[in-house]
Amino acid sequence: VTIYLPQDTAARSVGADAVAQQLAGAPGQWRVVRTASRGLLWLEPLLEVATPAGRIGYGPVEPGDVDGLLATTGLTDGPTDHPLCLGPVEQLPWLRDQRRVTFARVGVVDPLSVGDFQAHGGLAGLRRALELAPADVVAEVIDSGLRGRGGAGFPTGIKWRTVLEAQDPVKYICCNADEGDSGTFADRMLLEGDPFSLIEGMTIGAHATGATEGYVYIRSEYPDAVATVTSAIEIAYAHGWLGERVLGSSLRFDLHVRVGAGAYICGEETSMLESLEGKRGMVRTKPPIPALQGLFGRPTVVNNVLSLATVPAILAGGAAPYAARGTGRSRGTSVFQLGGNIARGGIVETDFGVTLRELVEDYGAGTRSGRPVRAVQVGGPLGAYLPVEQFDLPMDYEAFAAAGAMLGHGGIVVFDDTVDMARMARFAFEFCAEESCGKCTPCRIGAVRGVEVIDRIRAGEQRKRNLVLLEDLCELMTDGSLCAMGGLTPMPVRSAVRHFGADFDVQSAGSE
Ligand code: NAI
Ligand code: SF4
Repeated sequence: VTIYLPQDTAARSVGADAVAQQLAGAPGQWRVVRTASRGLLWLEPLLEVATPAGRIGYGPVEPGDVDGLLATTGLTDGPTDHPLCLGPVEQLPWLRDQRRVTFARVGVVDPLSVGDFQAHGGLAGLRRALELAPADVVAEVIDSGLRGRGGAGFPTGIKWRTVLEAQDPVKYICCNADEGDSGTFADRMLLEGDPFSLIEGMTIGAHATGATEGYVYIRSEYPDAVATVTSAIEIAYAHGWLGERVLGSSLRFDLHVRVGAGAYICGEETSMLESLEGKRGMVRTKPPIPALQGLFGRPTVVNNVLSLATVPAILAGGAAPYAARGTGRSRGTSVFQLGGNIARGGIVETDFGVTLRELVEDYGAGTRSGRPVRAVQVGGPLGAYLPVEQFDLPMDYEAFAAAGAMLGHGGIVVFDDTVDMARMARFAFEFCAEESCGKCTPCRIGAVRGVEVIDRIRAGEQRKRNLVLLEDLCELMTDGSLCAMGGLTPMPVRSAVRHFGADFDVQSAGSE
């Protein structure tokens, strides 16, 4: 009998290893397969038992539950009346209603099992890509409508075409796995849950663009992801999926892991390239874009984990089915991440076009505190705060931009009615002051001045004047910063003032 138990960081952080230890000591013929979390985080550790009725879920399981669980009558036949029994996992409404493409294997397979990977469609995309000319692979990715999942949403296929057409014998492909945005964790879950899909996607990218060497740049805060991806690369070499003559073809592709050192700015692509070259993570001016002059000055593909990990499914199934999903210019599915003060946090992969309300209220079931939702921040610490009145916004790059917000990497952080939005606006500047690389003045100095101005507003000091000054500073940072760090910091600040102005309304003797 097979029991599945996640061993990714999320499950381990709530005691999955202790449950595994208890299982190991239990009498009986149990085979325990360590998977990764499916992303139903409030149910972790979520244990699944293989039965003729599918995998039956139990959770959240504590070590003390294990003996009673294993002794449950009918455990291996199907659902039981055990109090932790959730029924067939894939029929849980949260999972049943999702459309998993990028995350299709995450939580289902043993992340490092070659057999599991291939039994669930692994390598089909790479095999097909290797039969196509590089330009045809690029065309397939363009036709799918896939856009960069790191946040900016630039069309992946167009980026690849730029690198393919660049004339240089040496080219690189780099995966940006420096997922620094607060409230985002999809990259980590993919790296820990299905690392072979990233390797497959990068190898397809190498064939499509002419890159012979690749790097996965993972943040040091993700030690489990570093270990899993490192092992996956070793296994891929041993099976001929990497190195000389990939899968018997003429493609040669070498792949390495590099670990960051804790700087948020190294998630900005040119800082990441500096860091990969062994230098301090400072932003480079663009142009030249990395696609033309990137790592060591060579044409370089820089893509986010999820963009690359989605490519195999597109090549395997063809561009059309992927492009048929979504809305407007946001095609396919996106992996949304629900966090903050939320009852049911985790991963929701579904078609673009789903509304914020569906994500926060239906999937997320409102706040964990039980109090009313007041605001959500979408797209990381540089994303806008949105009030409940805007919950009918569809998750679509253009719709968000029109609303003065951004989708970013798809993280949604929920706040209840106790939140002080002036404090959150202050935090945006504080964060920028802490993480600024220091290269340009609007960001380096503007962030510090921003904290001071908000402090004066919160103290009720010359409120009107300081609000004008704040807007002036926001305009300067948006227009004058060299990269998105300083350029986007005004977004949470302005949205907080626009939608939650009352929180900046502190009355005192000094106010005008
Ligand atoms: P960008 O719009 O400057 O560039 C997007 C991508 O397109 C880059 O890779 C750029 O090199 C490429 N590109 C632009 N023109 C091109 C062309 N003609 N040919 C080929 N490639 C081209 O945006 P940027 O500054 O790279 O990213 C900003 C975004 O990053 C923000 O919107 C934010 O959502 C996101 N972000 C994500 C974080 C995370 O943890 N995932 C953290 C912080 C920000
Ligand atoms: Fe560096 Fe900030 Fe300027 Fe970006 S905006 S280059 S992080 S100082």
